[in-house]
Amino acid sequence: MSAIDYSDKIPNNVNLSEDRALQRALEHWQPNYLSWWQDMGPEGAQGFDVYLRTAVSTTPDGWAHFGHVKMPDYRWGIFLAQPEADRRIGFGEHQGEAAWQDVPGEHRANLRRIIVTQGDTEPASVEQQRHLGLTAPSQYDLRNLFQVNVEEGRHLWAMVYLLHKHFGRDGREEAEALLERRSGDVDNPRILGAFNEKTPDWLAFFMFTYFTDRDGKFQLNALAESGFDPLSRTTRFMLTEEAHHMFVGESGVSRVIQRTCEVMKEHGIEDPAEVRRHGVVDLPTLQRYLNFHYSVTIDLFGADQSSNAAIFYSAGLKGRFEEGKRADDHLLKGESYRILDVKDGALVEREVPMLNALNEVLRDDFIRDSIGGIGRWNKVIEKAGLPLRLSVPHKAFNRQIGSFSGMKISPDGRVVSEAEWAAHVNDWLPADEDRAYVASLMGRVVETGRYANWIAPPAIGINKRPVNFEYVRFS
Ligand SMILES: [Fe+2]
Ligand SMILES: [Fe+2]
Repeated sequence: MSAIDYSDKIPNNVNLSEDRALQRALEHWQPNYLSWWQDMGPEGAQGFDVYLRTAVSTTPDGWAHFGHVKMPDYRWGIFLAQPEADRRIGFGEHQGEAAWQDVPGEHRANLRRIIVTQGDTEPASVEQQRHLGLTAPSQYDLRNLFQVNVEEGRHLWAMVYLLHKHFGRDGREEAEALLERRSGDVDNPRILGAFNEKTPDWLAFFMFTYFTDRDGKFQLNALAESGFDPLSRTTRFMLTEEAHHMFVGESGVSRVIQRTCEVMKEHGIEDPAEVRRHGVVDLPTLQRYLNFHYSVTIDLFGADQSSNAAIFYSAGLKGRFEEGKRADDHLLKGESYRILDVKDGALVEREVPMLNALNEVLRDDFIRDSIGGIGRWNKVIEKAGLPLRLSVPHKAFNRQIGSFSGMKISPDGRVVSEAEWAAHVNDWLPADEDRAYVASLMGRVVETGRYANWIAPPAIGINKRPVNFEYVRFS
């Protein structure tokens, strides 16, 4: 059951060949997916041989196989984590009942919406990142970008499988629409805001994989708790891939910081303008990128108070992060949660029913988790003996969703006037000029073992290969 059948046209561990109608439907979707990949996948890179890992089994140990493949030949398929024997629903009104193997009629519309919203983020990020290969700082980084991209493609497959198998004609239509929306398109954009932003340079890519892929981690964890067992199993396997995406982000930013610190120490300089003259990213610019990606990402958790979140939870569709480890009644009726609100132009705390605040609960879990990596980045700066520290901005800063949307709030959490905002916005968020500077650093490095000047080489390579391994063969 855990082994993946690669003899099928669509590799899978779900016995696809036993369901001919489903197999035909997915084989019909497959060429449309591949043509989307050709159009919207990594630009100019379809002929490269890339050192990629491919899933060979969904058991926790040794599921990956590494080898050079051309991306269009990557074996995208359908992999579900092992079924848990006698799995029970762990929260909400169906708590204790057997997990559903089929979609309960009354939850069909909500489950479809949850799956489509998750599914839409996967191709969106591939679209956002499609130009980055043209300016990769090394083969190692290029390979990591492509690994993330093919896995996001597979995550789309995971959601499309659920739509095809469990949602009939509606599901098939949604699966087509997932290939039709485009990140940033005015007429037919991707569903969520952060997935319509540009990822124009590699600093943005590393911040995106650190913060926005971490949103993925939290959403997938919440869905892994779902009473709908196929959704739980597919998201559990997706999470094993997500870990690598966040690693790419955390280590990428860390290497940028390391290189900047080396240059600052070597020349005894701290002034950002001087730092830039040496062709590395000054730390204040890095902080502004961090502010942007963090604030855009925490918007993804949705409104601070949401009746949908309450419905999804009570119905057993979407749990909390690590639901099983929490020692409450998993019903949450009568529980409250403190959220931030705005009163008379100031930020105030307010108690609200916890069921309505579950978006905020997940956002706060995300915030705690994302702060950890920032501490590790600061260690790099500290070790270099430099005084600056990076931090996340206040959670009300630069929000477009929820109570703070439309308000002007500084990174330290003060409600500020339009005039103060306008005077400081270029200190708080990347200005055009910052982006232009970072863009000016981006140049394509293709030689094996060479790294661009603005980023340190990684400490170790992929799959115990050296850092100067030939991760990509250009042909
Ligand atoms: Fe993903
Ligand atoms: Fe991801």
